[in-house]
Amino acid sequence: MLDKFENRILIITCIVIMIFIFSLVYAKTVRKIDLPECVPYSKVYTHPKITRLDSTTFQVFAVAQMWQFQPSQIYIPAGSTVDFYVTSKDVVHGFYIEEKNVNMMAVYGGINKTTVKFDKPGVYKITCHEYCGAGHQNMQAEVIVNFADQR
Ligand code: CUA
Repeated sequence: MLDKFENRILIITCIVIMIFIFSLVYAKTVRKIDLPECVPYSKVYTHPKITRLDSTTFQVFAVAQMWQFQPSQIYIPAGSTVDFYVTSKDVVHGFYIEEKNVNMMAVYGGINKTTVKFDKPGVYKITCHEYCGAGHQNMQAEVIVNFADQR
């Protein structure tokens, strides 16, 4: 037999969990927010690469390691959509893109994916926000979004 107080805590916990699940479903369906996803592991993603699929669609294999991101500079034209596949060569790193609501982990043996649209020209810093050792504070990369397509 549960105590009245325990009962209340259980009910509140269930309500909070339902709010979380509802928020996720709402973000994904109504707001069309792209949630990060896990992709089945393949060695292919451990080689840093920028691939242009068409004039405004890119695929980036981003590899984090002590203490850098590769590729460290990603040049794209404004209006581009980029699929980021993020992994780590060693410890757990963070993958945060300023102004873009991207906050992921780079994990050895795992591939996290997210899609980001860059409409406004500018330089968007990618930062490691997960303490990963002595050089953590230097771990940065950039997405450079140009006005016009120069390629
Ligand atoms: Cu990588 Cu902090």
